[in-house]
Amino acid sequence: MSAPLKLGLAGLGTVGISALERLLSMENELAVKTSRGIRVQAVSARNRNKDRGVDLSGLDWYSDPVEMATSDKIDVFVELIGGDTGAAEDAVRAAIMAGKHVITANKALLAKHGNELARLAEEHNVSINFEAAVAGGIPVIKAIRESLTSNDITRVYGILNGTCNYILTRMEDEGLSFEACLKDAQDLGYAEADPSFDIEGNDTAHKLSILSSLAFGHEIDADSIFLEGITSITSADIAAARELGYRIKLLGVAQKTDTGIEQRVHPTMVPLDSAIAQIDGVTNAVAIEGDAIGMITLSGPGAGGEATASAVLADIVDIARGLEVKPLGLPASLLEPYRPAAMRAHEGGYYIRLRVIDEPGVFASIANRMAQQCISLESIVQRKAKYKVEQKSEMITANKKPQDLVLITYETTEFAIRTAIESIVSDGHVVASPQVIRIERL
Ligand code: HSE
Repeated sequence: MSAPLKLGLAGLGTVGISALERLLSMENELAVKTSRGIRVQAVSARNRNKDRGVDLSGLDWYSDPVEMATSDKIDVFVELIGGDTGAAEDAVRAAIMAGKHVITANKALLAKHGNELARLAEEHNVSINFEAAVAGGIPVIKAIRESLTSNDITRVYGILNGTCNYILTRMEDEGLSFEACLKDAQDLGYAEADPSFDIEGNDTAHKLSILSSLAFGHEIDADSIFLEGITSITSADIAAARELGYRIKLLGVAQKTDTGIEQRVHPTMVPLDSAIAQIDGVTNAVAIEGDAIGMITLSGPGAGGEATASAVLADIVDIARGLEVKPLGLPASLLEPYRPAAMRAHEGGYYIRLRVIDEPGVFASIANRMAQQCISLESIVQRKAKYKVEQKSEMITANKKPQDLVLITYETTEFAIRTAIESIVSDGHVVASPQVIRIERL
């Protein structure tokens, strides 16, 4: 048997402690599975005296993760600190330059510095493994980077944020408010330290940027992602979607088009009978479309200590087995610069909800504006009683109560929709910001 692989584990939060407990309790099985011992040599966290329910007495303690990352006593640096700057970034760079393999669950770090870290790792002949960074316990990095490598991938999409899916599911099932569902998600520990990262879509964008790079062989470019969160979604939208045969999900979508790669994160109407529509609560799912496989959907826990630790241990086992894969699948020098497709050229169907004054000619005027942009309507409905009027407006007079008009379009372009809506707003019939939700062709 080779010498044991010695680990330094930085960050003893929920995931760090779960990973540590599994490593300690599975020592014998892991040695058999890898033909090599795997030993936790050292740990690092901010507070040494905190009771974490695990006996740390046999392990070297470092209060400085950078010092641990460069110690001769470790072969692999496991980064579970989080954050795209500061200790996590410094320690990962230091570990790579000291010739240590790196395992990280840090999607924000990879979204921001992934290209550069991949180059650095190649220069120093070490691996960076990051299965835990996207969709927690779902083995999607390995699936795209290794198992589907012979496929020409055309689209990757998924529910990549458990907090948003939990909120949307509970709003739909229990008719609860957005705020109440967000609070429960925070209390249950699903949300990021700053929950705006979840609900504004940034967390999904970080994860999507990594999947897109692996699927399409381009550099990570999280900053170019088209981003809309779920904060504007109302119970009215959820109810209308349901009646029209859809559910609303926050999707991250990376798609090959004639003009480049679309990377977009936005609330999306998905058909009720699609696989992705069945994903409830905090569960994540990723669908991958490729020429050889057609489509596969992987679903499972996207967060939580045990599930995420499962992915961290898989990465450790790969290193113990001597499996070496370029961090982003291709040698970093062969990654293409990201070539974004313009969002205005995006093609698809649209759901539009317009709060309008209920008076003669409004319907006709809106239909006319749509026709001017060659937008064909699949349906246009006004339901007086169904959609609760939630806001008062100065433009509302006592005898002209606003109503919601819900339009579903056939395939058109983002540009046409934006232009039509601008003209509808300028016509003065609309009393609140129009709601626009893209319908994904599945
Ligand atoms: N805040 C994330 C989520 C945790 O809700 O999915 C895992 O990245």
